[in-house]
Amino acid sequence: MLAIGSDHGGYALKEEIKKYLDSKQIAYEDFGTLTGESCDYPDIANAACQAIVSGRCDRGILICGTGIGISMAANKVKGIRAACCSDYFSAKYTRLHNDANVLCMGGRVVGPGLATELVEVFLHTEFEGGRHQRRIDKITAIEAAQ
Ligand code: RB5
Repeated sequence: MLAIGSDHGGYALKEEIKKYLDSKQIAYEDFGTLTGESCDYPDIANAACQAIVSGRCDRGILICGTGIGISMAANKVKGIRAACCSDYFSAKYTRLHNDANVLCMGGRVVGPGLATELVEVFLHTEFEGGRHQRRIDKITAIEAAQ
């Protein structure tokens, strides 16, 4: 199960991504926002990320205007590795090397065509492990020491 969410700045792109997920029969839970009215991205990030760290969802896609604020908020949740991406290479390598569990995008930065490609590669690329696992473990240790 995929968690998806956005603030008002990412709402239109979220709805486009949902059409793609529907067309591929990829199951998702929408954590809002459900209208284009102004709202606060930390609330959406927290709701979606709690579902991921609790195990209800496996990965997430979060969208705000730039993708930056919502990724900052997501990365405050223990166990979340959120990557804000606007290019294909980064969306691929954040899975291969960082085992990112949340993809963040800017609804005012990327168009729906590119965003769909980013989602596709993010969902279909597996973590390489090996030396990268050691680095993830160090990130987790920093988090645990807070
Ligand atoms: C909302 O106007 C905007 O600040 C938000 O969507 C996001 O871009 C913040 O990082």
